Amino acid sequence: MSKNQIASELSAPKHIAIIMDGNGRWANQRGLPRIAGHRAGAESVRRTVEGCKNLGIKHLTLYAFSSENWKRPESEIKALMQLLERFLKEKTKEMMAHNVRLNAIGRTDMLPKKTCAQLNKAIEKTANNTALTLNLALSYGSREEIVDAAKLIAEKVAAGKLSVDDIDNSTISSHLYTAGQPDPDLLIRTSGEFRLSNFLLWQLSYSEIVILDKFWPDFAESDLYDAVTHFHSRQRRFGAI
Ligand code: IPE
Ligand code: IPE
Ligand code: MG
Repeated sequence: MSKNQIASELSAPKHIAIIMDGNGRWANQRGLPRIAGHRAGAESVRRTVEGCKNLGIKHLTLYAFSSENWKRPESEIKALMQLLERFLKEKTKEMMAHNVRLNAIGRTDMLPKKTCAQLNKAIEKTANNTALTLNLALSYGSREEIVDAAKLIAEKVAAGKLSVDDIDNSTISSHLYTAGQPDPDLLIRTSGEFRLSNFLLWQLSYSEIVILDKFWPDFAESDLYDAVTHFHSRQRRFGAI
């Protein structure tokens, strides 16, 4: 292996996180209902998972439904949940064929019973797959995640299982929903918004950020490759010089 190859191996992202935004505006531009945008967005998910697998990325986290998205009209939430159920039902076979392990992060107990059952079924079925871990952030909020971690840690301290002096960065990381997974090296957000919208606040501390103007349904495999190439060209200093 040449030096360049080794260097590129070392800097290849292990974990990519994506804020899949702009489905509604994509549909609106076409005079279609918002759900048509979400449906087209599901197709982008399939392309992106495939692209990440081709690049040898081991972890992919997709922001699919935030804690704040519960504020949307009931009809849109219902349609999104049905779409998610259909997606899980149809794609489990493909995930098996591509050796993809499905995982969910968020307060998934808040999802409708049927959706939750479909989700757990897919998670169980794919549990032993090893090529790529696909984290779907569902009913996910980063502040809620940190609150849940704080509670778990406090319970351990109260039970005498953990000493306050031993709490460090790794204690927090290992009590988050993403415990055991590396932090994302790269965050991509589509549709041109420059904000985190309560996504992975702790885990994104040192991630490189790529914002694309495109709406999520227009996100192509080539956009993923461009973002990763961009990532390669950046110098990550982690506070050093
Ligand atoms: C992202 O697209 C998908 C979800 C949040 C579920 P949006 O639905 O936010 O689309 P815009 O931002 O309104 O265009
Ligand atoms: C973030 O998008 C959440 C998801 C992509 C699931 P939103 O469209 O909900 O975020 P805001 O409202 O623009 O911040
Ligand atoms: Mg949006």
